[in-house]
Amino acid sequence: MNTQTPHGENAPDLSAFWMPFTANRQFKANPRLLVSAKGMYYRSADGTEVLDGCAGLWCVNAGHGREEIAQAVGRQLETLDFAPTFQMGHPLVFDFAAKLAKIAPAGMDRIFFTNSGSESVDTALKIAFAYHRARGEGQRTRVIGREKGYHGVGFGGITVGGLVNNRRVFPLLPGADHMRHTHDLARNAFAKGQPDHGAELADELDRILNLHGPETVAAVIVEPVSGSAGVLPPPKGYLEKLRATCDAYGILLIFDEVITGFGRLGAPFASQFFGITPDLMTTAKGITNGSVPMGAVFAKRAIHDTFMSGPEPLIELFHGYTYSGHPVACAAGLATLEIYEREGLLTRAASLAPKFEALLHGLREAPNVIDVRNIGLMGAVELQPRPGAAGARGYEVLVKALQKGLLVRATGDILAFSPPLIVSEAELEKLFGILSEVLKTID
Ligand SMILES: Cc1ncc(COP(=O)(O)O)c(C=O)c1O
Repeated sequence: MNTQTPHGENAPDLSAFWMPFTANRQFKANPRLLVSAKGMYYRSADGTEVLDGCAGLWCVNAGHGREEIAQAVGRQLETLDFAPTFQMGHPLVFDFAAKLAKIAPAGMDRIFFTNSGSESVDTALKIAFAYHRARGEGQRTRVIGREKGYHGVGFGGITVGGLVNNRRVFPLLPGADHMRHTHDLARNAFAKGQPDHGAELADELDRILNLHGPETVAAVIVEPVSGSAGVLPPPKGYLEKLRATCDAYGILLIFDEVITGFGRLGAPFASQFFGITPDLMTTAKGITNGSVPMGAVFAKRAIHDTFMSGPEPLIELFHGYTYSGHPVACAAGLATLEIYEREGLLTRAASLAPKFEALLHGLREAPNVIDVRNIGLMGAVELQPRPGAAGARGYEVLVKALQKGLLVRATGDILAFSPPLIVSEAELEKLFGILSEVLKTID
């Protein structure tokens, strides 16, 4: 049923939709509805033009309302709306995988499709277990994540994830352990790019392996840059150490690139940006510019080929989703890749990063700011929490910024920025100009 509300004529009844990761009652008392989008801007239900400071939810890398994607999706729906990929196929899924393989980190050219980041993570963990088992090392049943890690909301993802609220009320997979996080304001506050301190935190992995026995560990999973925890670039030397330790013990290293994939740092993937190749890589979000749900796990060819050694009539991996490689998602993804390539968006963040960094760090003296950090076109401003009211300041910034025409992502008292990769320098100035004004009004 439609009702009249101050947020637009004929606004929908808000009661039936149980909103994800949202304070439902708080939201529904004061809803924030977006009704259309084009380029760098949303339009809200009250007609306000809203600059998108976070690419929707870290996903709309080529900006909103891209006609080529809409047309490709429309054509695909009319040509072949659905085809199974279990024991059947359709041309687009092979074509899309081949094109993704071309931009993938060296050797990671075997691709398993999913529908989300969470599914990509659970798929990667399952591939890791099955890989070791196929090699006669089925005792490798442990996975190691990191505190403050976010790997989606499947049971695998929350087991290796390290955001406490996402884990505490759910049963988890057995045998997991976590390295310490790298959030270190005492030593690294206001660092630009990779912080100087903290490489030794990768030694945690040795300690954990000594405790459990390295031969019991299947995989280590980290976000190369923690995103949801509030943009934590890896300390210099940290990822290198993780890579070396995993190599020494035959453990697979998984990079969760659901946020960093598809150009966010200025290279197609963070692994290319940092020059460190994992064994498995999870992606989603930017793979279709956020237009149609899709995810993909990239595997090293050698891992894939390990599965291809048994009798040919046997299914090699008992895993997949009805919509793995959905034709409409593939059409959206192919059109997205064309835009990324034609407009140079997979590397554009590299040229914008210095301006982004300068503007972001210009907020250093704003009230209540206790840290500013950035890498590529990802950045965060951390505010001092109000005593006894953690998250209140961050939420107030979100609400006030929206009123002034800016969408920011607030997790607790950390504000995160990841504008679409089409952003102009003038739009970056506008973004941080609005933010600076808003921060002055928050006590
Ligand atoms: C690093 C990382 N992994 C996994 C996910 C989960 O992705 P999805 O929400 O598509 O399941 C996210 C989502 O933000 C993420 O940032």
